[in-house]
Amino acid sequence: MKLLVTGGAGFIGSAVVRRAIAAGHAVVNVDALTYAANPANLDAVASNGRYAFEHVDIRDRAALDRVFAAHEPDAVMHLAAESHVDRSIDGPAAFIDTNITGTYTLLEAARSYWGGSRDRAGRDFRFHHISTDEVFGTLGETGKFTETTPYAPNSPYSASKAASDHLARAWGETYGLPVVLSNCSNNYGPYHFPEKLIPVVILNALAGREIPVYGQGINVRDWLYVEDHAEALLTVVTKGRIGESYNIGGDAEATNIEIVRRICALMDEMDPAGAPRERLITFVKDRPGHDLRYAIDASKIRAELGWRPSVTLDEGLKRTVAWYLENRPWWQAIQERGYKLERLGLKAAG
Ligand SMILES: NC(=O)c1ccc[n+]([C@@H]2O[C@H](COP(=O)([O-])OP(=O)(O)OC[C@H]3O[C@@H](n4cnc5c(N)ncnc54)[C@H](O)[C@@H]3O)[C@@H](O)[C@H]2O)c1
Repeated sequence: MKLLVTGGAGFIGSAVVRRAIAAGHAVVNVDALTYAANPANLDAVASNGRYAFEHVDIRDRAALDRVFAAHEPDAVMHLAAESHVDRSIDGPAAFIDTNITGTYTLLEAARSYWGGSRDRAGRDFRFHHISTDEVFGTLGETGKFTETTPYAPNSPYSASKAASDHLARAWGETYGLPVVLSNCSNNYGPYHFPEKLIPVVILNALAGREIPVYGQGINVRDWLYVEDHAEALLTVVTKGRIGESYNIGGDAEATNIEIVRRICALMDEMDPAGAPRERLITFVKDRPGHDLRYAIDASKIRAELGWRPSVTLDEGLKRTVAWYLENRPWWQAIQERGYKLERLGLKAAG
């Protein structure tokens, strides 16, 4: 297949691109290269004849029309987004622009390409919209999100993703665009931009700095290794039923403080520092509107499409810590570009 992947220079997008190329697909990566992008994530595929890069913003309709006409993809995998909850609290405008207006613009460009002057309406084309479990809001101590859980987003990020999910669904219902959706739980793994919890913990622990944990660290997330998510996405785009949505998750719930403690223990084992890293844990002011618990019921994708995660949380964390220890130039370059692990997302709290 020829896949048009948006956001392919980001964390999950680059895992999708690397895996798609390895599986024999052709990929056109459409990315505006925001702060979250890193072309180094794609070093392994950059010179592959089946890989092409288009430096394009998904809000630019004319550029998108040119990309569709030039590459004639069989499917779109839409990952480009502003993705960090804390940034959405400080500055929601970029999230509205990219996640809502950008998705709208991409849907319109895809619709025009698919049903356009060259009459592609009969052709096998699909638009895979990639989203998050955060659109469902927060859970209490029990229960899991299913595909029919009502949407109840609580942050500007999750509200903008929820809006984009609704647009994708509506373009399927109203215009017949062959849309498939997926909603995934928290990802972790190699190439994760060092503003998210797991890389923040690893890099602070490595530098002997305080490890910040929001609130009491009791918030529960359902963690999925990024390579397993990439495989799930390729399964959905190739085998998912049009008009359906699929929840993707690793069945690996853990509180934030458990994750932090496990990482500290792994680092003590893999890179001994003379004193336990747990001593660096510092509880800091909570994120405003911090959802208590997310958990995904992934039984639909397991039963219908045969996908299941291949990496346990213990194994995934071990691989992730090892990757950050072995790939210092990757994250040092990001720090040298000016990102210094500063705390974001407190403007609303005053
Ligand atoms: N990270 C997670 O745990 C998680 C979980 C579930 C779903 N998701 C979703 O998966 C997708 C990818 O997440 P991620 O963590 O890899 O994000 P990321 O922030 O690492 O990467 C986003 C990519 O999109 C690009 N981009 C941003 N705005 C753009 C624009 N206007 N035009 C073109 N490109 C643009 C960036 O340059 C970057 O390469 C997002 O849609 C996110 O909502 C993420």
